[in-house]
Amino acid sequence: MTISIPDLKHKLKRTPVYVNRVLFGVRETYLSCPEHCGRLESPGVALDRDELVDFSTIATTPDQFRIEEALKTLDWKGRNILHVGVGNSQFAQAFSPDLNRLDGLTVSLNEKNRAEQLGIENYQVHLVSKYDRDLLRSVTGKYDFIIDNNLASFACCKFHFHQMMDMYLWILKPGGQILTDQGGMDWFFEDPRWGLTYQDLVGMEKLFPMKVSKLTDTVYSLKRL
Ligand SMILES: C[S@@+](CC[C@H](N)C(=O)[O-])C[C@H]1O[C@@H](n2cnc3c(N)ncnc32)[C@H](O)[C@@H]1O
Repeated sequence: MTISIPDLKHKLKRTPVYVNRVLFGVRETYLSCPEHCGRLESPGVALDRDELVDFSTIATTPDQFRIEEALKTLDWKGRNILHVGVGNSQFAQAFSPDLNRLDGLTVSLNEKNRAEQLGIENYQVHLVSKYDRDLLRSVTGKYDFIIDNNLASFACCKFHFHQMMDMYLWILKPGGQILTDQGGMDWFFEDPRWGLTYQDLVGMEKLFPMKVSKLTDTVYSLKRL
């Protein structure tokens, strides 16, 4: 069964969504979020909220689609890709035949089960939070692309968000790219400071060895230097 976008909106109605927080005319960015959430294990928010993290039977989001279209314009065939937040695994069904290796991450057992049911030989999905250092134990490959349309949407604190960025860049090959989209970056759970802008990503160039650019109006590339 596939759930339509209107059904999804109904499902998410109980989820508080705020506009970006503006203080004295200045937008507060994620940099004013708590330094550390205090959790050593399974960092990230909404891990137990199936209606937010189980997209195994929900239609692919428009932002995910836009990233897939942008990917097609790049040199992607025969490459290694990590798909963070596999959802319904339709990305794997469409792209895996032309990839060398496709790994995925999810925090939803239903999404992992759905991925396994497809029986795609070069596709493996790991049940681990992307903000967790255990990511490096689960994922051992080096990737040409990491696709994540919700980079900060489920972030708990600055430390774990930056830890994720550090791990992403570590598991990318030099010149490899993280692909994301403004649509997913606009979505956050509870704290509006986790709604990122393109300028927030550009600001991260000071923290990480990467170059940020626009592939389209909404799809962004974070290239490992
Ligand atoms: C809004 S769904 C998007 C699914 C798919 N990418 C799409 O756009 O159609 C969010 C996805 O992120 C995953 N997710 C949420 N928190 C996560 C975390 N801390 N680590 C890894 N994946 C997470 C969920 O399991 C789900 O697959």
